[in-house]
This record gives sequence, C-alpha cells and structure tokens, in this order.
Amino acid sequence: MRLFIGLKKEINARMKKGKQLFSRGMIGGLFRCLKVVMILLFLSVPVIASTAEKAQTIDELSKMYDVSSCKTCHAKIYEEWSQSYHAISLVGSLGTMSSIAGAVKDGMMKEWTKSGVKDIKDIKVEHLVICLKCHLPQIKDASDEVAQQIAKSAIEGAAGNEAAIETLKKVGINCLVCHNSKAIIHKWVDGEVESDVLYGNKESAHPDVKFKTVKKSPVMKEAIFCGQCHGLGPNFELPNPTQCATLYGSYLHAYIPSGGSKTCQECHMKNVHSMFAYRDTDQAKSAVHVEVDARGYYFLPRAGYSVPNAVLTVKMTNNAGHRVPDG
Ligand code: HEC
Ligand code: HEC
Ligand code: HEC
Ligand code: HEC
Ligand code: HEC
Repeated sequence: MRLFIGLKKEINARMKKGKQLFSRGMIGGLFRCLKVVMILLFLSVPVIASTAEKAQTIDELSKMYDVSSCKTCHAKIYEEWSQSYHAISLVGSLGTMSSIAGAVKDGMMKEWTKSGVKDIKDIKVEHLVICLKCHLPQIKDASDEVAQQIAKSAIEGAAGNEAAIETLKKVGINCLVCHNSKAIIHKWVDGEVESDVLYGNKESAHPDVKFKTVKKSPVMKEAIFCGQCHGLGPNFELPNPTQCATLYGSYLHAYIPSGGSKTCQECHMKNVHSMFAYRDTDQAKSAVHVEVDARGYYFLPRAGYSVPNAVLTVKMTNNAGHRVPDG
C-alpha cells in the first residue's frame, strides 16, 4: 500500500513537471503559432468564399454539380434519371423553357414594371429564383452572370435555337440535388448538409472518390422530401410570388385526410428513378378507376309506340395521391 502511494506521488510529481515544461516550452509557442494561423485564416476565408464558391458560367455550375462519376457504379439508376424531366428541369417538355423565357421577356421586362429589369444584363439570381427555387435549386451557388446566361438561353431556345436548348440541358435536378442539398429539411434538428457526404437510406462507407460517406437522410422516404418542390401554393416568401406546382398541398389536404397512406416514393419510385407520371402508360391508366353501369329499356308512352332508352351510371374514382391533373 505504502509502495503504491509512493509510486503515485512520484508519478504525480513527474506529471506536474512534465506539464509545466510542456506548457512553458511548447504550448506558448504553439499558441503564438495558432494566433498567426487564425489571423491568416480570418483574413483569407471571406476572400476564398466569395470568389471560389460561385460558378461564373453554366459550364462551371454543371461541373460543380457533376454526376458523371455516379454512372460507373449506378448505371441503371443513372439511365432512368437521364430520361426524367428532373434531368432537364430548365427545359421540360419545352414548355418550362418557353415559360421561363416568357417570365423574363413579358413579365420582368414589360408587365412587372418595378422588377428593375430592362435588359438581360439587369438580371440577377434573385430574379430567376422565382422559378429556379424549384427548377434549379443550385442557382444559389451561381453568380448573376449565370442567371443572365440562363435567361438568354431560354429566350433563344424558345425561338428554336438548338444550341441554346443544349446549354440549358447541362444543368438540372440531379443526384446531388436530391442526395445532398435537399436531403435535410429541419436544419435546427438535423443540422446543415455536409458538402462531401451523400444522403440515402442508411449509413455506410461509399467508394466514390469525392463522396466517401453515405449518411441517413431523415426524409428520403417521406412525401415531404418531394413536397419541397412539388408545392403547396403561391410562394409568398418571394418578392413577386409565383404559383407553379401545388400537388403537395393536394396530397396533404385531400389525399391524407381521406385515408390515403402511401408516400410519393411508394407510387412513383418502386425501385425506379425515372419518375414518369402520365408518360408511363400503366401509371396513367392506374390514375382513374372508371365503373360504367348501363341499363337499356323501352319507354312505352302508348300502346304500339315504344321509345328505346338507356340509363348510364358512371363512377370515376381518382386513385392518385392528389388531384389529377396537378404538378
Ligand atoms: C428540387 C426540386 C424537386 C424535388 C426534390 C422533386 N421534384 Fe419532381 N419535379 C421537379 C420539377 C421542377 C419538375 C418538372 C420539370 C419540368 O418538366 O420542367 C418535376 C417533375 C416531376 C414529375 C413529372 C415527370 C414527368 O415525366 O412528367 C414527377 C412524377 C415527379 N417530379 C415526382 C417527384 C417525386 C416522387 C419526388 C420525390 C421523390 C420529386 N419529384 C422530387 C422538382 C422536384
Ligand atoms: C428527385 C430526387 C432524386 C434524384 C434526382 C435522384 N435520386 Fe436517388 N433516390 C431518391 C429517393 C427519394 C430515394 C429513396 C427511395 C426509397 O427509398 O423509396 C433514392 C434512392 C437512391 C438509391 C438507393 C436505393 C436504390 O434504388 O438502389 C441510390 C443508390 C440512389 N438513389 C442513387 C441516385 C443516383 C446515382 C442518382 C443520379 C443519377 C439519383 N439517385 C438521383 C431521390 C432522387
Ligand atoms: C465506385 C462505385 C461507386 C461510385 C462511383 C458511386 N457509388 Fe454510390 N454506392 C456504391 C455502393 C457500392 C453503394 C452501397 C450499396 C449498398 O450498400 O447497398 C452505394 C450507395 C449509394 C447511396 C446510398 C443508397 C442507400 O442505400 O440509401 C447513394 C445515395 C449513392 N450511392 C449515390 C451515388 C452518387 C450520387 C454518386 C455519384 C456522385 C455515386 N453514388 C457514385 C458505389 C458507387
Ligand atoms: C397512391 C399513389 C400516388 C401517390 C401517393 C402520389 N402519386 Fe403522383 N401520381 C399518381 C398517378 C397514378 C399519376 C398519374 C396521373 C396522370 O396520368 O396524370 C400521378 C401523377 C403525378 C404527377 C404528374 C401530374 C400531372 O398532372 O402533371 C406528379 C408531378 C406527381 N404525381 C408527383 C407526386 C408527388 C410529389 C407525390 C407526393 C407528394 C405523389 N405524386 C403522390 C399516383 C400517386
Ligand atoms: C414551388 C416550386 C416551383 C416554382 C417556384 C416554379 N415551379 Fe414550375 N414546376 C414545379 C414542379 C414540381 C413541376 C412539375 C409538375 C408536373 O410535371 O406536373 C413544374 C412544372 C412546370 C411546368 C410544366 C412542365 C413542362 O415541362 O411543361 C412549367 C411550364 C413550369 N413549371 C414553369 C415554371 C416557371 C416559368 C416558373 C417561374 C415563373 C416556375 N415554374 C416556378 C415547381 C415549381
């Protein structure tokens, strides 16, 4: 026992000495070093952030959100996604591109007289956000020059310029928009998304060179995930509110209260990433159930004179998880 206490004292004494030596010698130096590093960091971070983070051209934005590497290992998913309107969400069925062109030319430059836009060069990111909030959320990482290039391409594309349409197809709602940017909704609960992490249904290591980890997204399987863009109604937070997609509103306020329990993913994904709606014959046919009951009879107003009649009872049931059509 005594031996043990003695040893302990000895160790304590050595530790104290060691600690003092360490703190006088190294820590002081280290601290001075850290101060310099911190001052340097303080000086350089804002500069790096403001220039390096924003894409200056559509090509740069496309590179920032490059998903070509995903193709190697997720070939089927990549192929399905490529055929979806998500992949070309600035063009869509050409209607999207034309209406973005219309919003710029007829809206901002003409009817919306207080928009501050007279010419393409007046367009800023904040102007296009009224559409791109959902059609291209990565616009948040782009400069005003990119917004001008998009507006110009939409106008030229709507006038039939194929090269302009191809330019717009370089960016869209891709793997990184869903599996990174939009994968966390409640940031006060779950924190911000991490830039080098992909979010899916489970936690695992991931063999991609850039994204080495997969974390579980709390919303990936929930309807609210799709609801981020498939809208509730007018976007009142915008300076000039727009109303495009309203489908999530109809899902929440009509489908769920009437007993519906499926998520968007259960009806629209079923292990596919193409997310077709009416473009898929089976999905379109499954939308509305029609029951027709027909009964024929003769109406006899007087003897020897009969009029053929029919009674048709038609019952239509909407089997989709929302109004159809909607968006
Ligand atoms: C980042 C925003 C965003 C998210 C998240 C999103 N969508 Fe979309 N979705 C869009 C936009 C924008 C379009 C329309 C593109 C166009 O045609 O211009 C669209 C189109 C569609 C279409 C129509 C496809 C077609 O071929 O007609 C379906 C179906 C669809 N989305 C389902 C979903 C489902 C299900 C989810 C959730 C798993 C989801 N979306 C998540 C923005 C989004
Ligand atoms: C519009 C949003 C959206 C886009 C774009 C998207 N995903 Fe997904 N992905 C989802 C959702 C939602 C799930 C979960 C579906 C479920 O569990 O029902 C999912 C599931 C997955 C899964 C796991 C399940 C499976 O099917 O194997 C992988 C892997 C995946 N996505 C990879 C990709 C890749 C690669 C791309 C780009 C080529 C991509 N995703 C584009 C929304 C998206
Ligand atoms: C070298 C091959 C490889 C590359 C490249 C790759 N992945 Fe994966 N990915 C995998 C493997 C393997 C898994 C794990 C599958 C499993 O465990 O079920 C996976 C899992 C995932 C998951 C999680 C699926 C889930 O179960 O929730 C997502 C999301 C995903 N990958 C998206 C991507 C995206 C987006 C890219 C491109 C940026 C990409 N992957 C590139 C091989 C790859
Ligand atoms: C019970 C199954 C079911 C659920 C749940 C469901 N959908 Fe649908 N959805 C359908 C069917 C079926 C269609 C095809 C209707 C048609 O032909 O237009 C459709 C059509 C669509 C369309 C195209 C509509 C149009 O008229 O342009 C979009 C976009 C869409 N769904 C997105 C979603 C989103 C987002 C959710 C979740 C908030 C969701 N759906 C939930 C079955 C479902
Ligand atoms: C709240 C999110 C949101 C905003 C804001 C938004 N959209 Fe959409 N938009 C969508 C979604 C989701 C769809 C897919 C609906 C579908 O396919 O049925 C869509 C579909 C469309 C379509 C029909 C698809 C096609 O290819 O023909 C057009 C056109 C369109 N949007 C134009 C615009 C324009 C122009 C603006 C800005 C003035 C805008 N949207 C703002 C979410 C939005």
